[in-house]
Amino acid sequence: MKHKFSQLSDIISQRRTIKPQQMNGKPIDDEIVHQLLRLADWAPTHGRTEPWRFFVFAQEKVKQFCTDHAVMHRAAHPEKSSDDVFQKLSNMGDNASHIILVAMRRGHLPKIPVIEEIAATAAAIQNILLGAQSLGIAAYWGTGGSVLHHEMKDYLQLGEQDHVLGTLYLGYADIPAKEGLRNIPMSEKVKWM
Ligand SMILES: Cc1cc2nc3c(=O)[nH]c(=O)nc-3n(C[C@H](O)[C@H](O)[C@H](O)COP(=O)(O)O)c2cc1C
Repeated sequence: MKHKFSQLSDIISQRRTIKPQQMNGKPIDDEIVHQLLRLADWAPTHGRTEPWRFFVFAQEKVKQFCTDHAVMHRAAHPEKSSDDVFQKLSNMGDNASHIILVAMRRGHLPKIPVIEEIAATAAAIQNILLGAQSLGIAAYWGTGGSVLHHEMKDYLQLGEQDHVLGTLYLGYADIPAKEGLRNIPMSEKVKWM
């Protein structure tokens, strides 16, 4: 059996973004999505605030979300909502199985800075992406359209202090993932002090 580090290293380094348009429409069992969400819940968190919140759209709700997204984006940003953009948002989930909107919900511990709550929620997202990779599930973390804007918080009935961090599209894909690409050498990113 492979060493644990080697298995984990493969999962982390081989995880690739696969866009929803490249998915094949095959549904993921809801129980598998529950398992991924339970992995997300094990992210580290300062002060045990567990600020991550997940809004899961499955089956016909996937299309409903995409339609709602296109409509809300047009209402809030008519200048950016060309017919192409409107169609793209409307059809974004057509080949995906599930869509999960991930938000940071600000708790009642004001001593925890917002950046820490956002960081913890991003760690929860990465747990989902790595879990998906280990199960051969294609995943895409997107922030386009209205995802980072106020109208999306309203749609999800979030508070002023909360933040939506992204939309995760999950599904299966027939195509192999692209080769991993990193532009900046490690030597520029790491300084041993
Ligand atoms: C916070 C965040 C937001 C992202 N938003 C978008 C997006 O709106 N559109 C997009 O095409 N890709 C988006 N991506 C995906 C990145 O483009 C992708 O992760 C990057 O190309 C690296 O590829 P890899 O994930 O396969 O390593 C986002 C990624 C992150 C972490």
